[in-house]
Amino acid sequence: MKNPMFWVLLTGVGILLIQQGLPVHSQGDSQTDSKVMDNITVKQGETVFLRCAQGDIVTHTAWLNRSSILYAGEDKWSVDPRVSLVTFNQEEFTIKIEDVDMTDEGPYICAVQTSSRPRTTSVHILVQVPPIIINLSKDIVVNEGSNVTLMCQASGKPEPSLTWKLLSPSGDLASEDEYLDISSISRQRAGTYQCTAVNDIGLDVQTVEITVNYAPSVSEGRDVGVAPGQRGVLECEVDSMPEADFEWYRDDRRIFNDFDGIQIEDVGQLSKLTFLNVSEEDYGNYTCIAINKLGSSNTSFVLYEIIEPTSSTLLQDGSTSVLDLTSSVLEKTTSETFAIQAGPGAVQDGNSGSMGTHVHTYSCLLLAIILQFLLSF
Ligand SMILES: *[C@@H]1O[C@H](CO)[C@@H](O)[C@H](O)[C@H]1NC(C)=O
Ligand SMILES: *[C@@H]1O[C@H](CO)[C@@H](O)[C@H](O)[C@H]1NC(C)=O
Ligand SMILES: *[C@@H]1O[C@H](CO)[C@@H](O)[C@H](O)[C@H]1NC(C)=O
Ligand SMILES: *[C@@H]1O[C@H](CO)[C@@H](O)[C@H](O)[C@H]1NC(C)=O
Ligand SMILES: *[C@@H]1O[C@H](CO)[C@@H](O)[C@H](O)[C@H]1NC(C)=O
Ligand SMILES: *[C@@H]1O[C@H](CO)[C@@H](O)[C@H](O)[C@H]1NC(C)=O
Ligand SMILES: *[C@@H]1O[C@H](CO)[C@@H](O)[C@H](O)[C@H]1NC(C)=O
Repeated sequence: MKNPMFWVLLTGVGILLIQQGLPVHSQGDSQTDSKVMDNITVKQGETVFLRCAQGDIVTHTAWLNRSSILYAGEDKWSVDPRVSLVTFNQEEFTIKIEDVDMTDEGPYICAVQTSSRPRTTSVHILVQVPPIIINLSKDIVVNEGSNVTLMCQASGKPEPSLTWKLLSPSGDLASEDEYLDISSISRQRAGTYQCTAVNDIGLDVQTVEITVNYAPSVSEGRDVGVAPGQRGVLECEVDSMPEADFEWYRDDRRIFNDFDGIQIEDVGQLSKLTFLNVSEEDYGNYTCIAINKLGSSNTSFVLYEIIEPTSSTLLQDGSTSVLDLTSSVLEKTTSETFAIQAGPGAVQDGNSGSMGTHVHTYSCLLLAIILQFLLSF
């Protein structure tokens, strides 16, 4: 049966190895012959085989995990179901550990009792674990100008290296570290940031969304000319985060949707003020204000009258070719006049855009053209 002296020795070997650490060559114990095998590197979840050469004169043999016996000959001492015997004969004594985990890492010892003296062989199991990101900053919403720090921590063996990059829109590398510091963040640096953890055997990738809030800024209003009875649309476009609420004013009076033949429609960053049937009273100055929690921005538009020439008002019996010429000249001239009178700058300084002046200019032009036309006969 079991040789009590051998087990005493085994336990002694285990304790000695633990106390002195590896690699263990000679304990100074002349009775024991020890050697170190190469390390075994195994990926988490895989199976590792521990093989120990025997000899003719072996009387007892065992595999130990640190100081605890896994197998003594064919007898299993370990209660771990992942540990099993593969081969046990005169030449070799092999066991296997399935589904290897981090905790299995460490020294394993094959102890052999020969007729002469005991011999131990140790092997170090190194377990490799693919990276897993375990601690990641949550998606954040900040105001423009804030200092932002993102963090990404990963487990894994060997120790994973971490990088941050801005996925969209740019794809630029942002940091080669577990921390990503952005001081005074601008709206251009909002987006999806990706943390990548890499080691020799794998990688893990996670993303964090940074939303940068800023006050609205509306594009400059463009004046719109519409003939009475037609449909007229004023468009107010804003750049804002979060989305802005729009308000429309005629001079100082707020305008509401579906009132007085006016419709207001907001679609994302755009608000449209629609006059279903423009009348004389509609001509004037309109202001669009975009508001979010960080501020507001406004712009003004002039809705001005244009006159559509009709054959009956111009000439009774003129030829169509002459009429076409007249109306196209008229349109061209009026639009040029307005480019000068109510161009983009005019809205902001607020001195031009008076309806009276516009109508007056039209009448004079019309008269001049008709006169010129009649004189040419
Ligand atoms: C085996 O692994 C141990 C622990 O990581 C290390 O100290 C030792 O240098 C390795 N030995 C060999 C031969 O790779
Ligand atoms: C080896 O020993 C360590 C520490 O006691 C333990 O956590 C691990 O499960 C053992 N592994 C095997 C295969 O016995
Ligand atoms: C994640 O990191 C934060 C900040 O360092 C720390 O407070 C927290 O305990 C960590 N959580 C985990 C699960 O490691
Ligand atoms: C952001 O960090 C800078 C230094 O990097 C500091 O001067 C500034 O006060 C910080 N701003 C905020 C809003 O904390
Ligand atoms: C537009 O309004 C005018 C005057 O109120 C009216 O005569 C005309 O029929 C209207 N046109 C349409 C298309 O509703
Ligand atoms: C419109 O914006 C100007 C500055 O651009 C501001 O002075 C003015 O008070 C704003 N008007 C309204 C009605 O918000
Ligand atoms: C339109 O109204 C706004 C706000 O009341 C004012 O600032 C602007 O000067 C006005 N524009 C014109 C052309 O009257």
